[in-house]
Amino acid sequence: MSVILQKPLYIIGFMGSGKSTVSRHISRALGIPKIEMDDLLAERAGKPITQIFAEDGEEVFRQMETELLREIGGGEPVLVSCGGGVVLRPENVEIMKATGTILMLSATPQTIYNRVRHSTKRPILNGNMNVEFIAELMAKRDPAYRAAADVTVSIDGKTSDIVAKELVERIRNNGGYVS
Ligand code: S3P
Repeated sequence: MSVILQKPLYIIGFMGSGKSTVSRHISRALGIPKIEMDDLLAERAGKPITQIFAEDGEEVFRQMETELLREIGGGEPVLVSCGGGVVLRPENVEIMKATGTILMLSATPQTIYNRVRHSTKRPILNGNMNVEFIAELMAKRDPAYRAAADVTVSIDGKTSDIVAKELVERIRNNGGYVS
C-alpha cells in the first residue's frame, strides 16, 4: 500500500548507520520517492565522493550538500537519505527543520565499525578505520545529530531490514508522518 508523505522525511546519522538501506526499504514498501544525497551529488559532479574530496576539497562537497538540501526543501515531499556530515552546517539543519521531519539512526561506535570496516568509499574514514577514531568523531558530532533529530531510532543489535520494517509500520500507521 502506498503512503503519501506529508512533508520531506530526512534520515540522518553517522556513516554506516544504515541510512541508505533503511531509506531504500521504506521507499519500496510505501511507494515513496527517495533521494540518496551522496549518489545524486556524485552524479552531478560526474565523479565519486572520494574524488570530490581529493580534487575539490571537503568545503566544495559541503557547499554542494547545502545547495541540494535547499532544492529538496523547496520541492515535493520526498524521503531523503542524507550524507553523514549534513548536520555539520547549522544552515542545513535549519533547512531540514523548516521543511520536514528529521529521523536519526543511532548506533554505538562498535556497531558502526562492524558495518563500515571493509568500505573504502568514505573519505573521512579512509586511513582512520578503527573504533577509537569513530568514537572520537561520533562524540564530536553526536550533539548536532541529537539536536537536529525529531525522532531517534537505535539500530544496535538489529539489521537494517528490521529497522526499516518497524519504520514502515510507524509511517503507515501515522498517515505519512513518522512519530
Ligand atoms: C560523510 C558521510 C558520507 C558522505 C561523505 C562525508 C561524513 O555519507 O557524505 O563521505 O562526513 O560523515 P554516508 O553517511 O552515507 O557514508
